[in-house]
Amino acid sequence: MCGIVGYVGPQQAEGVVVEGLRRMEYRGYDSAGIALVHDGAIAARKRAGKLANLEKALAEDPLPRACTGIGHTRWATHGAPTDRNAHPHLGAGHRVAVVHNGIIENFAALRAGLERDGHELESETDTEVAAHLLESAVQSGATLTEAMQQVCRRLEGAFTLVALDCHDPDRVVAARRSSPLVVGVGDGETFLASDVSAFIAHTRDALELGQDQVVTISRDAVEVSDFDGRPARADSYRAYHVDWDLSAAEKGGYDWFMRKEIHEQPAAITDSMLGRHDAEGALQLDELRITEGELRAVDKIILVGCGTANYASMVAKYAIEHWTRIPCEVELAHEFRYRDPILTRDTLVVAISQSGETADTLMAIRHARQQRSKVLAICNTNGSTIPRESDAVIYTHAGPEIGVASTKGFMTQLVACYLLGLYLAQVRGTKYGDEIAQIVRELDRMPAHVQRLLDAADEVNALAEELSGTRSVLFLGRHTGFPIALEGALKLKELAYIHAEGFAAGELKHGPIALVEDRLPVFCVVPPRGRDQLHDKMVSGIQEVRARGARTIVLAEEGDDEVTRYADDLIRLPVVPTLLQPMVAVVPLQLFACELASRKGHDVDQPRNLAKSVTVE
Ligand code: AGP
Repeated sequence: MCGIVGYVGPQQAEGVVVEGLRRMEYRGYDSAGIALVHDGAIAARKRAGKLANLEKALAEDPLPRACTGIGHTRWATHGAPTDRNAHPHLGAGHRVAVVHNGIIENFAALRAGLERDGHELESETDTEVAAHLLESAVQSGATLTEAMQQVCRRLEGAFTLVALDCHDPDRVVAARRSSPLVVGVGDGETFLASDVSAFIAHTRDALELGQDQVVTISRDAVEVSDFDGRPARADSYRAYHVDWDLSAAEKGGYDWFMRKEIHEQPAAITDSMLGRHDAEGALQLDELRITEGELRAVDKIILVGCGTANYASMVAKYAIEHWTRIPCEVELAHEFRYRDPILTRDTLVVAISQSGETADTLMAIRHARQQRSKVLAICNTNGSTIPRESDAVIYTHAGPEIGVASTKGFMTQLVACYLLGLYLAQVRGTKYGDEIAQIVRELDRMPAHVQRLLDAADEVNALAEELSGTRSVLFLGRHTGFPIALEGALKLKELAYIHAEGFAAGELKHGPIALVEDRLPVFCVVPPRGRDQLHDKMVSGIQEVRARGARTIVLAEEGDDEVTRYADDLIRLPVVPTLLQPMVAVVPLQLFACELASRKGHDVDQPRNLAKSVTVE
């Protein structure tokens, strides 16, 4: 989730663009850059690191004055966060500059074609491919708008592209597919941005573009077309007036980053699946720098992580063991090296970390590598320490997670764990291709399932309002529902500061049931009916707590009417396979914790005593 800005108008473009990038600083990034059109040429500057690094470079060596420019803050997906990989990227003749948000899935094939034609590309990014393609088109006589239309017809994936042509200094051209782009319509000036926070200081009149559209902006005009060059119908994009203040704009109109990130989960799942399987459902994990031979030799997997990442590990164990028959151990990272773990060259240690900077997890992988085991990181932060010190990485593409309580980070950790398990099954032949493809299709349906739960958030919010005074909540689950019970309890602890505890439902009668008292809220995650021994035993557990006065809040799949009589509150889940149910079961629990904490007046994004990344042991 990068930040993009474009500008054409009477003001100094550098100042407008840099200010716009700063206003999108919350989107998180690891590099930033700007390109201006001056005197028939492009003047560009880009730096790895925070925006301040770019501003320092501009102060030391100013760019010429210009009234047309584009800018970018990068959240790396392809290529480490370096000066070279930072945007903008230029075409071969430095006539066209491009900034990009998203993932161009077929960039490798396009890059190979360009290199066959003699192009020399400098970076590791997919964006530079687009810059070379656009410049080739304008060199052949196309306008930048026509070039953008031609190139977009060749791209696969999700992308927002913003480009300028130094031979056409009064225009900026952009295109979007499944990635955000808004136009700011000012008085004699026009803006482009990933979100309105970049330009609401200048204008609150905006246009939200539709899917597969190209927009050409000049000082006084905005022209929208489709990728085939046909003028866009007026009802295919939306004009609106921005009423938000800057703080709300940064959160996309939500009250908290966490709530925004909960609602970003369908897109995060989609982005994390992008480019990782072919049309037949066969897995392709390009960045997995461990050979198939090494993966076939793996005889044990140890999953390490902390907090929410540890619960993702627990879910992964169920799936990976079932699909691959490789023994999996789950270990809290801070316990791992002190228990003198048995590690060999054939042990695969999987380190799960959203930030990639958690010290406990970092120490765990250093220990594993000293013991000559292979380490694979599952991480959301490109270029962070843990993936850098690992043998291989599967990046989750959740985009920056600002809220301290992990939500989309957790969701995409689950996606990455499932992809790893399926890839291992594919490489080791423990599942047939059609079986794998079926599960991949189920994963591809998950964004829609999660969206349906988000559309019903009001029910959960109402429950949270009703229970806002509660002082204790229990969470029960079986099988993959058990880690979700733990995750639901953690969310409530870290946000609402109340006693919340998750249990394996089968554990109740071994002690915890003594906690149950009249009207105690107990969330019960009911497994799908596909494996009845699980489902029936969970129903028994619900009866046990209800018989002792608990208020049972039951999460059960649609059509499961057996639980209705034991549910004081019933939250319906989409019907999904047992091993994938965590992806839907966790969503109501995230929403509940966010709403309850919000009603208690807590700072949901920055809960007390907590940090987003725990970089101390
Ligand atoms: C989750 O809501 C917490 N913020 C915390 O448990 C977190 O998951 C844990 O600290 C691990 O962080 P990481 O994924 O960045 O390594």
